[in-house]
Amino acid sequence: MYSCVKSYGIGGIDAYAVTVEVTLNRAIPSFDIVGLPDAAIKESRLRVQSAITHAGYEMPVAKITVNLAPASQKKSGPVFDLPIFLAVMAASEQLFHSYDQALPEDAAFVGELSLSGAVRPVNGVLSMAIQAKQDGITSLFVPAQNAKEASIVEGLDVYPVSDVSELFSHFNGQAPIQPLPFDPTMILEGSNHFDADLSQVRGQSFAKRALEIAAAGGHNLLLLGPPGTGKSMLAKRLPSILPRLSFMEAIETTRIYSVAGLLPPDHPIMNSRPFRSPHHTVSPVGLTGGGSNPMPGEISLAHNGVLFLDELPEFQRQALEVLRQPIEDNQVTISRASSRVTYPCSMMFVAAMNPCPCGYRGHPQIACTCSEAAVHKYISRVSGPLLDRIDLHVEVAPVAFEELSGESREETSAQVRQRVEAARRIQEERFAGTAITCNARIPAGTLNQMCPLEDSALEFLRRSFEGLGMTARTYDRVVKVARTIADLDGSDIIRKSHIAEALAYRTLDQKYWYENR
Ligand SMILES: Nc1ncnc2c1ncn2[C@@H]1O[C@H](COP(=O)(O)OP(=O)(O)O)[C@@H](O)[C@H]1O
Ligand SMILES: [Mg+2]
Repeated sequence: MYSCVKSYGIGGIDAYAVTVEVTLNRAIPSFDIVGLPDAAIKESRLRVQSAITHAGYEMPVAKITVNLAPASQKKSGPVFDLPIFLAVMAASEQLFHSYDQALPEDAAFVGELSLSGAVRPVNGVLSMAIQAKQDGITSLFVPAQNAKEASIVEGLDVYPVSDVSELFSHFNGQAPIQPLPFDPTMILEGSNHFDADLSQVRGQSFAKRALEIAAAGGHNLLLLGPPGTGKSMLAKRLPSILPRLSFMEAIETTRIYSVAGLLPPDHPIMNSRPFRSPHHTVSPVGLTGGGSNPMPGEISLAHNGVLFLDELPEFQRQALEVLRQPIEDNQVTISRASSRVTYPCSMMFVAAMNPCPCGYRGHPQIACTCSEAAVHKYISRVSGPLLDRIDLHVEVAPVAFEELSGESREETSAQVRQRVEAARRIQEERFAGTAITCNARIPAGTLNQMCPLEDSALEFLRRSFEGLGMTARTYDRVVKVARTIADLDGSDIIRKSHIAEALAYRTLDQKYWYENR
């Protein structure tokens, strides 16, 4: 006896169709699963067996062979419990009351089973729903706790299942499960609400301006200064001045969290920009993703948001070096012996650091206690190539007492965000019809065309280029930052003042890094 059930697996953040086939043969009873299963799938056997008997049905006394097709694709996780269960029940003719009934062709099933037959949540259901829709599936049966995230896919009936017994009642017409209605509103609900507001940071107008430029053009940012000057405070407030997530961005980010199993159960949609701030003890794999059962890392969890590395020199050197390529490419590829997965990681990279181990180098009031060698060692943990990939270098100075205690009113995040959004609209027009998303991502080949400089600006840049010994990469970054400054200014052409301001964010490497070499 034979039956087959459609299901979905996850590779990277994409889902792929899997057909679960079951045959029952008269032979010595056994239960085998083939088709490149991992350990979790092999254990399905025990869960399925237990769920069948617990639900009051009979475990077929037969040689049971389960095949997960396509057999070439390595499969992982417990998501195939439910389809294996159904296929065994169908093959042993226990699922339906009458013989002329069969599972619908256009239905697919995913879910982990508990020993008692309860259906437990699995990772990656949103991606599965998107793929199922593309494959022409009309009914997707998912664990009840995952149903909400799948319901943002239009044109797909999502059936929440919390126990295998519900499936029997459903297919036999006794108690049909109600599909969840399509619900795109979850994406809009509560978006752009941030507890931390930029107005809570007093003074620091130079750093705030840099934060605004970074947000407006999608530029990477380094904040350097003594402890207690508000570096961490500023970085945490960056998401609050970024433009709202678009519908597509919200879906992309949600897919990553779904695959990582990190969606909040009560509101399983990521509808505001993520802010990830891993501790400096994070491993290279924790940062970029990977592992024997690959999972997205911090850079991907920051997709469409901000990755903040506080106390940058404290991170493992190796962890920082593996960041270089994903920062440029906006995606990270993890190669394993048996497979290759790619995770998107289009994020703003923000880092903060002290100027030396004690933190007070160059402080106007407090004396630094570090030796030159210690300072050099500390600074050089951040390599030149990594530094080169950061567009804006900002020195955050101690705040004056008057600024902290004064009555001056600071601008709110909402006010700054308006200017950021205006600058982004200009960029949208500029990049219409291309894959470019913001100024920071202008490819070198189109830089001249998209960033016209007035003559005096070009001349000023040429003199600075020679005077400061800039590299070609630094040149590109200065022009892109100047492009954003001009956009904030509403100017088509990049003027000398825009170049001058952009150059002001390139002085740190001269001051701290190169003099140290
Ligand atoms: N510019 C500022 N405005 C208001 N409070 C500040 C400012 N700078 C520092 N603080 C206070 O000092 C604390 C430490 O700031 P933090 O951002 O952690 O500094 P850093 O990261 O530069 O060491 C904050 O929680 C805040 O209470
Ligand atoms: Mg800090």
